[in-house]
Amino acid sequence: AEMTDEERAFQERIDRGEKIEPTDWMPEGYRKTLIRQIGQHAHSEIVGQLPEGNWITRAPTLERKAILLAKVQDEAGHGLYLYCAAETLGVSRDELIELLHAGKMKYSSIFNYPTLTWADIGAVGWLVDGAAIMNQVPLQRTSFGPYSRAMIRICKEESFHQRQGYDIMMKMAKGSEAQRRMAQDALNRFWYPSLMMFGPSDKDSVHSAQSMAWKIKINTNDELRQKFVDQTVPQAEYLGLTVPDENLRWNEEKGGYDFSEPDWSEFFEVLKGNGPCNRERMEARVTAWEDGAWVRDGLMAHADKRVAARTA
Ligand code: ACO
Repeated sequence: AEMTDEERAFQERIDRGEKIEPTDWMPEGYRKTLIRQIGQHAHSEIVGQLPEGNWITRAPTLERKAILLAKVQDEAGHGLYLYCAAETLGVSRDELIELLHAGKMKYSSIFNYPTLTWADIGAVGWLVDGAAIMNQVPLQRTSFGPYSRAMIRICKEESFHQRQGYDIMMKMAKGSEAQRRMAQDALNRFWYPSLMMFGPSDKDSVHSAQSMAWKIKINTNDELRQKFVDQTVPQAEYLGLTVPDENLRWNEEKGGYDFSEPDWSEFFEVLKGNGPCNRERMEARVTAWEDGAWVRDGLMAHADKRVAARTA
């Protein structure tokens, strides 16, 4: 379709590298895409607390417990900054949460996999937060101001999360034989789901072309997946662990690894709600929301009283 003058002027601002702010004119599609992506991102941070929260009561030492608690609280904070960024686009946090609970908005596929052992907490920090950073560092340059600014702080905290995960993996991989086996098992189970975090292959990515033209996305899904593999394989080697991929080979010509694609049919099943923990995750979120109703009611009642006192 032909661009209108407004749309053309908007695209020129994007092309010049200007940030778009909430009160600026923007095409409806730009607004909708941002609400979808930022909302989905916020939901991922919130749902992402669940697999790790599962191990707070069972962390092996007091120090590990304190670190894990801090990290899970950081994720809650990330969710809140992102909901605030989405709210600048004219949607409320409550509306977004309702859409999530009604199954009308997504959250990252990765959080539908269980954390079965302590080594999984290492693998989540190392691989899942590693993949998250790979995706989020370029988003610091995304065209929408509030989103890009939220990303700057989130990336700093995310790199601490990744380091703590790798530190757990080092302890486990260099520990007893049983610990080393747990570390390898965690890598085996989290490798492909981590690769799926970057989204479908470029040929199946419906939003990439338009999102990149608008600089909502900076890289394609496959570009970031390749960078993640190239960064992570040497880290696995340093741990003395084996990436579960027989086709993994350094390719001198492209200056990166060749690797196997994840099983995309599994990915699309997880997106449809049929992953190992989808039902459990949604139940936990809905229950938490319902259990918190009395707090929200109390806050509203208190706010009403204050307004009444001021106008009396
Ligand atoms: N999990 C769940 N859904 C996904 C995933 C995933 N890993 N990857 C893609 N999808 C969905 C897309 O949302 C889209 O569905 P929709 O149209 O119903 O929204 C569909 O699959 C097709 O994918 P794309 O066209 O490639 O979608 P998009 O351009 O949005 O790219 C991506 C997906 C890369 C995840 C992008 O949205 C993004 O960069 N988001 C911000 C980062 C983020 O959300 N991170 C969350 C995990 S990290 C963390 O929380 C610790």
